[in-house]
Amino acid sequence: MKNIPYSLPFISEGEINAIEDVLKSGWITTGSKTREFEQKFARYIGCKHAIAVNSCTAALHLALDAIGLKERDEVIIPTITFASTGEVVTYFKAYPILVDCEQDTLLIDVNKIEEKINQKTKAIIPVHFAGQSCQMDEILQVSRKYDLKVIDDAAHSLPTKHKGRMIGTIGDIACFSFYAIKPITTGEGGMVCTEDNEFAERIKIMSLHGISKDAWRRYTSEGSWYYEIIEAGYKYNMTDITAALGITQLKKCNEFYRKREKIADKYTQAFKKIQEIKIPVVRDYGTHAWHLYVIQLNLEMLNINRAQFIESMKENGIGCSVHFIPLHLHPYYRRTYNYKSKDFPVASYVYERIVSIPIYPKMSYDDADYVIDIVIKIIKENRK
Ligand SMILES: Cc1ncc(COP(=O)(O)O)c(C=O)c1O
Repeated sequence: MKNIPYSLPFISEGEINAIEDVLKSGWITTGSKTREFEQKFARYIGCKHAIAVNSCTAALHLALDAIGLKERDEVIIPTITFASTGEVVTYFKAYPILVDCEQDTLLIDVNKIEEKINQKTKAIIPVHFAGQSCQMDEILQVSRKYDLKVIDDAAHSLPTKHKGRMIGTIGDIACFSFYAIKPITTGEGGMVCTEDNEFAERIKIMSLHGISKDAWRRYTSEGSWYYEIIEAGYKYNMTDITAALGITQLKKCNEFYRKREKIADKYTQAFKKIQEIKIPVVRDYGTHAWHLYVIQLNLEMLNINRAQFIESMKENGIGCSVHFIPLHLHPYYRRTYNYKSKDFPVASYVYERIVSIPIYPKMSYDDADYVIDIVIKIIKENRK
């Protein structure tokens, strides 16, 4: 029996050597490596500014600060997302307003956004779930109509294109994640991308205590001892140790993507004729980074539920996960906003059925074949 964890980072000698160099250099916090990572990331995405921070959650927080979010404002987000997308809104005592998803792509349902907009709405955070771009034409159109800012939650979407343009160049601000098992990793880390000079300046300052000059410039011969605190900021800067990992990983981003794409293709070919499984639907307006491969179990045709399916996968040595438990089903959201399962019927329905199966560049194609064999075996054994 194989042992295939749900996900693993792909770390090799290059990353280890890059970190060793930084450790030996004597400068281990934010400095020249961080600047280099920002420049290389900006070039990769094709955006004007890239600001490295210590998580995507920090990136989203800084983005909402930059657009001037205030207490009691509202921000539209999908219910199918990770905790961060909603929690950052609450940092401002503002309200995350949830929107249901499409049944086939699990992306925010753009037809249900406008009905949630009112005078207090300030922004939309489309989440490019699993690595597939949301329908950005519709989102940009509605944001222009009501003068809203668009902040991409691009935690999964590296690299992802929408009509030939990279995610990171479309909304007002985009936020990427380099968490341990994201498309590229720095352990923990994030990047904010924007074309807007004022947003970039504000984000840079707020990411390091609201100080007008960063530490690296202050303490090297380029800078001076003088600095000014111009706002009450945060401590969200990326370190050079982290950035060294990021630079090495970024070089492999396309290679990682190709590997995930091939695994996704194998899964799709194997599962497309199996009626008990719905495979992910990819819209033709863009590309899919395949950060996640989320199948939906057709429970009506099976004798087992999703938990039993995941348990059987585990018994066969395969780790699975669920992305995501929709926000409206969590105690905090139920308690605070009185959300009910029926308020988001599609997300509540798919939530019972979704399973994320392993897809990452460290997997071999043999591993992917094994996953396919086991999925099919479990389905066959549990057909109604
Ligand atoms: C959709 C989404 N947004 C934001 C985040 C937060 O990323 P980070 O862990 O880098 O803060 C995640 C992480 O899992 C995510 O999946």
